[in-house]
Amino acid sequence: MKKNILSGIRPTGNLHLGHLLGTVDNWVKLQESYNCYFEIADAQALTDNFDNPDKVNRNVKEVAIDLLSSGIDPNKSVIFIQSMIPEIAELTVYFSNMVTVARLYRNPTVKTEIKQKKALFGVKGEGVTYGFIGYPVSQAADITAFDGELVPVGDDQLPLLEQCREIVRKFNTIYGETLKEPAHYLSNMPRLKGLDGNEKMGKSLGNAIYLKDSAEEINKKVMNAITDPNKIKKDDPANPEVCMVYYYHKLFSKDDLETINKECRLGQRGCVNCKKQLVQNITTFLKPIQEKRHYYEMNPEVVDKILLEGTKKAQAKAKEVMKRVKKNMKIDYFEEGKD
Ligand code: TRP
Repeated sequence: MKKNILSGIRPTGNLHLGHLLGTVDNWVKLQESYNCYFEIADAQALTDNFDNPDKVNRNVKEVAIDLLSSGIDPNKSVIFIQSMIPEIAELTVYFSNMVTVARLYRNPTVKTEIKQKKALFGVKGEGVTYGFIGYPVSQAADITAFDGELVPVGDDQLPLLEQCREIVRKFNTIYGETLKEPAHYLSNMPRLKGLDGNEKMGKSLGNAIYLKDSAEEINKKVMNAITDPNKIKKDDPANPEVCMVYYYHKLFSKDDLETINKECRLGQRGCVNCKKQLVQNITTFLKPIQEKRHYYEMNPEVVDKILLEGTKKAQAKAKEVMKRVKKNMKIDYFEEGKD
C-alpha cells in the first residue's frame, strides 16, 4: 500500500524559482512513489488576505498552471482547491475545542508570521484575528482529512506539523483511534537565496524570479544581483564564493562551473558577461516549463477540468475520513447503516 502524502501551497502569487527548487521539484519526485494530495490552500490564503478576494481567486488558477507546468501530473497526483472541501472547515471546528489559545500564540511559525505582518496585525500583534491565530488548527485538518501520513514541508513549517501531531494524539485519546499521525518529510534542497543576497527568495522581498518571467524580466533581475563588493573594474580578480551570481551559476550552469570559478578568480571575467550567461541559462532552464504554461493558458478548460476532477477525488476521501470522525465523536445522527 502506498502511503498518503498531503501538502499545500497558498495561492497568493505566481510560483518562483524558490518554490520550484525547494518544494515543487520534490513533489514531482514524490508523486512517483506515493499517493499524493496537493492542496491549493485558498482558505488559508484568505486568513491574511480576506480583504482581497480577487487576488486569491486569480492566483488559484495561476498556481494550478504553475504546478502543472512544473511537472505535477494529474494522472498521478490529486490537485484540489481547499475551500471546496467543507470537511476541512468542519474538522477545524472540532479540533479547535482541543487547542488552547496560549498554545497557538506559542507556535514559533505563527509568532514569526505575526511579527512579519505588522501592517496587518499591529506592532505588538494586537490586531491578530481569530482566523489567523487558528490557522495551524485548520492546517491540521488539511492533513488529517486525507489521512496524510507524510507531509513534505520546509523547516519553517515544522512547528505547524508538531501541533498537528499533538491534536491527532489528543483526538485519538479522547475519541478512540481515528486519525493518522503524520510525519514530516523535509526536502534536502536548502532554501534558495535571493539574488540580492537575502536568505530567501520571496514576492514580498521583491527578489523573486518567477517561472513565467520573460528573458527581459530575468535580465533585469540578474543585472541587479549582488557581486563581490571588492571587484571594481571588469578585470579585477574576485571571489566567487561571496557573489550571488556565482551562487546561481552553481544551480543553473553546472557544466561551466569550473571555468566560471577560475576566470572570476583570475579577473578574466567581467560581471556583466557573467550575468548574461546566467540569464541565458535560467531562460533555457525555464523554457520547457513556459512552453507547458503557454499550452494551459491557451486551454483554460483543461486546467478547470483537472481542478474539478482532483477536487472530486479529494472530496470523496475527505467524506470517508469525516464519517469515521463523526462516528467516533458520536455525532453521526441518522447516518445510514448506523448500528
Ligand atoms: N502553510 C503552508 C505554507 O505556507 C501551506 C499549507 C497549507 C500546507 N496547508 C498545508 C502545507 C498542509 C502542508 C500541509 O507553505
